[in-house]
Amino acid sequence: MTFVPYDRPVRAAFIGLGRIYDLNVRAYRDNPDVEVVALVDPSAQRRAERQLDWPDAATFATSADLAASGIEVDAVEALLPAPLHADGVVDLVGRGWHVNLQKPMCNDLADANRMIAAARSNDRVLRVMENYLFYEPLRKLKETVESGEIGEVGGYHMKMVASGRGGWDVPGSSYEWQFQQMEVGRGILVFDDGWHKLATALWLFGPIRQVRAWIGETELVPGISMDAPTTILWEHDSGVRGVWDITLATDMYLRSDYYTNDERWEVTGRRGFARVNRCTGRGIQQPSLEVYADGEMRSHHALDDDWASSFRDSGRHWLRWLRTGEGPLMWSGEEALDVLRVALAAYASSEAGGIGVDPASIVA
Ligand SMILES: NC(=O)c1ccc[n+]([C@@H]2O[C@H](COP(=O)([O-])OP(=O)(O)OC[C@H]3O[C@@H](n4cnc5c(N)ncnc54)[C@H](O)[C@@H]3O)[C@@H](O)[C@H]2O)c1
Repeated sequence: MTFVPYDRPVRAAFIGLGRIYDLNVRAYRDNPDVEVVALVDPSAQRRAERQLDWPDAATFATSADLAASGIEVDAVEALLPAPLHADGVVDLVGRGWHVNLQKPMCNDLADANRMIAAARSNDRVLRVMENYLFYEPLRKLKETVESGEIGEVGGYHMKMVASGRGGWDVPGSSYEWQFQQMEVGRGILVFDDGWHKLATALWLFGPIRQVRAWIGETELVPGISMDAPTTILWEHDSGVRGVWDITLATDMYLRSDYYTNDERWEVTGRRGFARVNRCTGRGIQQPSLEVYADGEMRSHHALDDDWASSFRDSGRHWLRWLRTGEGPLMWSGEEALDVLRVALAAYASSEAGGIGVDPASIVA
């Protein structure tokens, strides 16, 4: 890859202007590293709404129209429905644009390999953004664990409760493609939102050598099911074990500015524990990170625990990276492939009755 950093602001386009644009846009506002030159979405209403943010940007219904316009673009923020990720990335890198893609990368290894190969052959960078790696309480959790403060790590626990009441409005169109994903066995909890949890596992404790899973299903209304109750557990190469439980609380009201997802991460060491109490929603309204060691509890009261800030910081990291080429991408297409392998290992395990599956054994 012959990437040369830009010695001027990056010329960027948003491809997809739906719900998550509201958070991704935070990286682009007041950022001297970038100039937003175009907005692309087939919906005229979305284009009109988002143009208010960028009055100087040109708007287009398709990426082909943008390419034909002659407007110079260096990189795109791809906020496409997940079923369009694979073909979308092949199209976008083929036009000569670097891509910052949303998770989940895609549904299977064949598509992931196709996307990575397309980026390579077009000499473009494919990043699969992972905003959770930029959530300050989780960063501080990682720092705390690595400092040795809670002693050698024995294991950890992640919890996710999907509640049905509260939060922001999600447009019906978002659910349409989510249901499409569920029909092909890539549910909203294990695969879509779950992608983040698996990513944090790899980021915190490194490669995973074995995954065991019991993926359940609950019918919400006739024809529409959610992929819970689910329990997934795994062992890292280091021997550290993780377990993640996903539960539905359909009638529970959860205060949230975003999605109604109640989440926790709790790492146990020989001397104590460190726990992130919340992320997307405001379930446990104590300090977002608490660390217990040697009989004392330390609470972090001044972390930036607004989930939206993780999008701002992830996007800023990408735009800075394009200006300098320095440091890890967080994450590259290849790193996202590791997340996909763990998710696919969980599906393979569950289908086989919960046996241990090595993510490296998953083939396209
Ligand atoms: N990081 C996170 O925590 C997080 C949270 C929510 C969604 N996401 C991801 O963001 C992506 C978008 O999700 P969303 O909730 O904004 O979906 P959405 O349905 O609200 O928005 C998708 C937008 O893409 C547009 N679109 C469809 N086809 C297009 C095309 N060919 N070219 C350009 N635009 C097109 C649609 O008109 C729509 O406006 C998904 O991959 C999703 O998984 C990530």
